[in-house]
Order: sequence, then structure tokens, then C-alpha cells
Amino acid sequence: MTLLRTQNLNKSFPIGDDQINVLKGININIEAGEFVAIMGKSGSGKSTLLSLLAGLDQATSGQVILADEDLGQLSEEQLAIKRQSDIGFVFQSFHLIPTLNVEENIAFPLNIARQHNPEKVDALIEAVELAHRKKSFPNQLSGGEKQRTAIARALVTDPKILFADEPTGNLDETNAKQVIELLLNLQKASGTALIIVTHDPALAALADRTITIKDGQIS
Ligand SMILES: Nc1ncnc2c1ncn2[C@@H]1O[C@H](COP(=O)(O)OP(=O)(O)O)[C@@H](O)[C@H]1O
Ligand SMILES: [Mg+2]
Repeated sequence: MTLLRTQNLNKSFPIGDDQINVLKGININIEAGEFVAIMGKSGSGKSTLLSLLAGLDQATSGQVILADEDLGQLSEEQLAIKRQSDIGFVFQSFHLIPTLNVEENIAFPLNIARQHNPEKVDALIEAVELAHRKKSFPNQLSGGEKQRTAIARALVTDPKILFADEPTGNLDETNAKQVIELLLNLQKASGTALIIVTHDPALAALADRTITIKDGQIS
């Protein structure tokens, strides 16, 4: 079953009087539960693509269709609700809320959706092996612990699709390995689709499929 698809997706950014065409006619199809790796050189448009797929930015033209809904047709409010309920995102630089501890960061998406599920939060804290750190604040955590918190936060609402943009880019090899292992285990357990941007061929080899972006196009 198709979960997410794009139709002739284009994205340009204005630069002075000129513009840079970053994505040029991207057509992709992601199945429910699928694990897809996105590869490509720095500057090829990977992060731009992820932002569009996750509804964090608007395409210049073309469509992003998630579970039969065209994200471009939604109001800001509808899109925000969609992002809260169906989409998880893990950034290279963690993006934790500095004033909230681990437990509160993980519960945050539930709180803004006015939901309450402490059992789910606890189960995820256990799953990412942070039970001993749940009262710690981000500035008290290692990079690996921060990213494990971010992964739990991204999954707390049971999203249909989880995006991870170079999630181990700021981690050393040991932490990177642990983060990927947890991420893939949680993906399997939850059945969410996973779209991960990576430069690591060993990780891409574990994916169901790899999409390579070159100069804003799928190559
Ligand atoms: N907000 C922006 N304004 C102008 N140019 C941008 C913006 N975001 C990205 N770009 C440009 O788009 C291209 C692709 O960027 P990006 O998607 O971040 O690549 P990647 O993630 O593959 O390294 C780069 O040339 C980058 O400079
Ligand atoms: Mg990038």
C-alpha cells in the first residue's frame, strides 16, 4: 500500500534576482512500513526533499501526497495536526528543547496534541536505554543520549512515517552504531515507514531500497 508519494516535485530558492533549482521533478513512492535510504553528495538536495516530504516546507510546484492527502492543500493548522499525528522527524543536530528533561522532551509531542500516555513514554525511555537519564536535561547528555531521546520523541505519537536526516552525523562510531541499532529495532517493532538520509553504504545496504539524488533528480 502506498503511504507517501510525490508528483513532479520541484523546489527553488530565490537568490537575489536569480533562483537556484534544488529539486527538479522528483517522483517517489513509499510503501507503508518501508525502510528507504536516501543517498547523494552534500548539496544534492536531500535535506530539502525531506523537509518537503515531512510537510516542514512547501514545494515550489508538484505534490506531496501522504495517505491520500495532498499536503499542499492543507491549511497551516491541518498540516500542523498531520505533522503531530502521522510524521516523526529526527535531525542531525537533535533539536531537543533545552529547558525540558529527557522524559519531558519525549512526552512533548503528546502534550501539544493534548494527549497523555505515560506508559508509552516510559516504554520508549526503556527502549532507547535512557531510564537512568530520564530526569537529565539535554546539556547533561552525550550526543548519543541526545539522539536516543530525539528518536523516542519522534516515535511517541506512533507516526506512520519517520524521517531521519543524517541522524548519526554528529556522533562517534560507537554511538552511531547504537543509535542505528535502536532506530531499526524500533522501526520494526512499530511498523512505521523509515526514510533515512545517510552517507553510510553499510546502513543503506540494510534498507529495503536506496534512492540516490544527484543534482536535484533521482539518478
Ligand atoms: N533556504 C535556502 N535558501 C537558499 N538555498 C538553499 C536553502 N536551503 C538549501 N539551499 C541550497 O539547496 C541545495 C541543496 O541543499 P540541501 O537540501 O541542504 O542538500 P543536502 O542535504 O543534500 O546536503 C544547496 O545548494 C543549498 O545551498
Ligand atoms: Mg542535508
